[in-house]
Amino acid sequence: MVKLKAASASPSPFAHRHLLGIDGLSREDVYRVLDLAAQYIDKNRQPDKKHPILKGRTMINLFFEDSTRTRTSFELAGKRLGADVINMSVSSSSVKKGETLIDTAMTLNAMHPDFIAVRHPESGAPHLLARKVNCSVINAGDGCHEHPTQALLDALTIQRHKGKIEGLTIAICGDILHSRVARSNMKLLTLLGAKVRIIAPATLMPASPQSFGVEPYYDMRKGLKDCDVVMTLRIKTEYMQSSFVPSAREYFHFWGLDREKMSYAKKDAIILDPGPIIRGLQIDSDLADDIARSMILDQVEMGVAVRQAVLELLAGEGK
Ligand code: CP
Repeated sequence: MVKLKAASASPSPFAHRHLLGIDGLSREDVYRVLDLAAQYIDKNRQPDKKHPILKGRTMINLFFEDSTRTRTSFELAGKRLGADVINMSVSSSSVKKGETLIDTAMTLNAMHPDFIAVRHPESGAPHLLARKVNCSVINAGDGCHEHPTQALLDALTIQRHKGKIEGLTIAICGDILHSRVARSNMKLLTLLGAKVRIIAPATLMPASPQSFGVEPYYDMRKGLKDCDVVMTLRIKTEYMQSSFVPSAREYFHFWGLDREKMSYAKKDAIILDPGPIIRGLQIDSDLADDIARSMILDQVEMGVAVRQAVLELLAGEGK
C-alpha cells in the first residue's frame, strides 16, 4: 500500500476527537484537512481508489434527514479507506417506535463503532450525541446550525479554482436564515481571510449578520459587485412554518442568480451551490450547467476527498 504524504501545513497533531462545527478549528487544522484532501482527489481519480488505512474500523451513518451527497460521500469515503460502513435507515429503525436520540446513540455505542456521522433536524443533536458515545462524531448537518464538512469541501473547491481563499470576496446568496451551510461557511471563510458578503431578502437574513464578521446586502446586484465567488442556496421550506417569500416567480426575479445578475461579479467569478439545486428558483438552469462558471459537480467530487481526510485525521492516522 502506498502511504499518502503527511499533510504539510502544520507539524502539530490534529487534536480533535469530533468534528461538530467550524468553531474550535484553527487555520492550521483547516489547511491540514485541505492538504490531505487534495491528495485524495488524485487517488480517487485512479482505477484503484482504495487506501485501506481504516481497515477493521466501523463507521455508522445515522441520518435523520434526507441526503444524497453527504451520505453517499461519507459512505464512499469510509469504504475507500477500508472501513466497514453501516448506513442506518432511521425510517425503519426503532426511532419510529419512539426510541430517543440518546437511547439510539447508546445502543449504537454498545456495538463499538469508531465513527458516527450524524444528520439531524435539531441544532445541537451531534453535540449531545458526542457526550454519550466513545467514538468520533461528525456533524453531517444539524438543523439550521452547522454543516462543517460542506464548508470544508467548499473551501477546497474555491482554493483549487482560485489558488487561494485569503483576500477573495465571496457572496453567499439566498436563504441565509435557515442555512447550516451558510453558517459553517461564514465561520470558515472569514477564518481563512476571505471577505464574505451575505445577500438575502430581509425575511431570510439572520438577526445579527455582523456577529459573523460578514457584510449583509439586501440587493443582489450591489452584493454581487466585483465578487470572486458566488454561492447560491436553496430555500429550506422544510424549516419554515409559513411562507417567507411572496412567490417562487417573484423570488427568482429578485434573488435568483441569472446571467444578468452574475454580470455584476468579476468576469472570472465562479459559482458554487451545496445542492440540491432548485432550477429556476435559486439559480437559472443555464448558469447551473455552465461548466466554465459552475463548480457544483466539482464540489461533489471534493466532498468525498474532504470526508476521507476528516476520517483519517480523526482516526489519528494523520498525526
Ligand atoms: N449539500 C448537502 O448537504 O446535500 P445533501 O442534502 O444531498 O446531503
